[in-house]
Amino acid sequence: MTYREVMNDEVLSGSEALTFDDVLVVPGWSEVLPHEVNTATELAGIRLAVPLLSAAMDTVTESPLAIAIARAGGIGVLHRNLSIDAQAEEVDRVKRAQAGMISSPISLPPTATLDDAEALMHRHKISGVPICEADGRLVGILTNRDVRFCTSEQYNRPVTDFMTASGLVTAPEGTNLEEAVAILHQHRIEKLPLVDGDGILRGLITVKDIDKRIEHPNASLDDDGRLRVAAAVGVTDTEERTAALAAAGLDMVVIDTAHGHTRGVVDAVRLIKANWPHLVVVGGNVVTREGVETLAEAGADVIKVGVGAGSICTTRIVAGAGMPQMTAIHECTIAGRELGVPIIADGGIVTSGDIVKAFVAGADAVMLGNLLAGVDEAPGDLELVEGAMWKTYRGMGSSGAMRGRASDRYGTGQSAGKHVAEGVEGRVRYAGPMAELMGQIIGGLRSGMGYAGAANLDDLRHRTRLVRITGAGLRESHPHDITVLRDE
Ligand code: XMP
Repeated sequence: MTYREVMNDEVLSGSEALTFDDVLVVPGWSEVLPHEVNTATELAGIRLAVPLLSAAMDTVTESPLAIAIARAGGIGVLHRNLSIDAQAEEVDRVKRAQAGMISSPISLPPTATLDDAEALMHRHKISGVPICEADGRLVGILTNRDVRFCTSEQYNRPVTDFMTASGLVTAPEGTNLEEAVAILHQHRIEKLPLVDGDGILRGLITVKDIDKRIEHPNASLDDDGRLRVAAAVGVTDTEERTAALAAAGLDMVVIDTAHGHTRGVVDAVRLIKANWPHLVVVGGNVVTREGVETLAEAGADVIKVGVGAGSICTTRIVAGAGMPQMTAIHECTIAGRELGVPIIADGGIVTSGDIVKAFVAGADAVMLGNLLAGVDEAPGDLELVEGAMWKTYRGMGSSGAMRGRASDRYGTGQSAGKHVAEGVEGRVRYAGPMAELMGQIIGGLRSGMGYAGAANLDDLRHRTRLVRITGAGLRESHPHDITVLRDE
């Protein structure tokens, strides 16, 4: 252990358990400027330029937010309060949002009508579709440009009457992105189908995808240039749900329970690792060294930490159980480091300063619910209350959410009829577009790293000191002795 770690050990290992507001990061010698620091992390082979995950909650993460956070460099965890098919469709939406090369492009047969093509393009929000024979042989491509001047009477005619067929520009399977850009520019086209030696369609490269790569240089991408995405599963339908999500292209599966140091979670981890070894498996939630050891031994690649810390949680009130989050992160990350398992700090983070503190306590990444629930991309309607804009945010253990499919998170057994709620329903301040909020959050993290003199997250974890503060110190930390007129 380094000197800093021994000091932090003393602060955090006392008999009292601490949380974010109990401590501050001590400013240290710094040779780094905030814009120079590196915020990247790695979760069992998944590299994230930004160490943030969005919570698997039905008022936080569906495909729009998962797309936005992956573009910013983090990863979204799609909630599971919906049918297996609907959740797999959400995975598919994220995976189709952008690609290096689309490896299984949506196509239509030559017998399809213009009407069919229009409906398909509208449904998948695409601007063109390759036309293929039943054996996959490419015969043409229909794009918005081909149909722009069609009259309504023409919509029952076959797509072959309108598609581009002669002079169709294609490239051989295996063409890389740079070569594709040159061909797209040379022919002034927007879509380049890739075909094999028999003329069978094998992929599609689009200008739109290339533009997105330039626009979002930090995006979390898989080997095919598609956005990374995670999704939650429970312990009652683990096999079925994981099978559907994996088939849709999932990168990371999160076993989403309120108490992860349990037989059910151990069995779920083993089941997923045995059947889908390529998936990164996150087990949780736990708050003790023993919990980490148990899940690591079962095969979890990453472990999520936090019980009762969430802003909407009432677990500690209802069940009397939990662990203040800074101490939980500290204890679990010591075990995680020994075992080579990264730790995600989940719950209780309501400011960018809390994120900095979570890393100083040892976290490899943090999960955010409350902080993200107010953005445009989060599900839920905007509400105007007393002149201010709000968005709904609720616990997955609240009565409302537990009427859905995620009640096994709390082990209540939906058939038992009455749920014991462990969360509340409410609203958070509207926070505008995700990209802007992410700029603020990452800016705060960078600023904290600058004060700590940490060039990267490892420095933050190993070379940064914490100090415990009193109630008076906390009061001093917030604006005081002023009537605040603007809080931004
Ligand atoms: P924040 O503080 O970011 O926390 O809003 C989000 C995390 O809280 C957990 N969660 C719950 N915990 N009752 C609980 O005890 C609930 O109803 C509930 N809903 C979510 C979850 O770990 C989430 O990521």
